[in-house]
Amino acid sequence: MVDPVSVAVAAALTFLVVVVHYSSGTGWEPTEDISQDVLEKRAATVPETDFPEPYNRSIGGGAPAGAIPAGGAEGELAEGEEAEEEEDEGFDPESIPEDEVEYYDIEFAKEGETIEVANNETILDAGEDEGWDLPYACREGQCVSCAGQIQDGNASDYIRHINNEALFDDDMEDGYCLTCVACPTDEFTIETGEQP
Ligand code: FES
Repeated sequence: MVDPVSVAVAAALTFLVVVVHYSSGTGWEPTEDISQDVLEKRAATVPETDFPEPYNRSIGGGAPAGAIPAGGAEGELAEGEEAEEEEDEGFDPESIPEDEVEYYDIEFAKEGETIEVANNETILDAGEDEGWDLPYACREGQCVSCAGQIQDGNASDYIRHINNEALFDDDMEDGYCLTCVACPTDEFTIETGEQP
């Protein structure tokens, strides 16, 4: 015999399923895609370089190590600095023709004497020729054992280094030079045995 309660419950459940199935609900809207906005905001936080897209932004901020901009003020500065380096480190005193050798009066303050030094001769060699016991180690511009301080100003205005792997630009601006690889281009006074 059919249980009228069971039938009623079954009918109610069926009705409920039908109602739920056909109801429209609240609907679902996908959230807006903001990934492009996020990428643009991130890109705006790192400086631009002069490289073409998509390489025109450095990774992690700041200019990429060793990268040389394609142009603009920074590029010109980098080229200028490179040229100065080449000029300094590429200097070969033996390339000076005999008739272009010039001599400058160099005052050695501690030694108390002024001697003539040729522009194809190093300050250290000239001092040793006088019999002075001047400091040195590598004699190749790789340490600062032979350093001396030019008293007249920026060392770049008074000497040319055959090689300089030890002094920074700031040191040279303070008058320091490596006497073992420094040839004079002007007259000056030097304090030997002075390191930056
Ligand atoms: S002795 Fe080393 S740089 Fe002159």
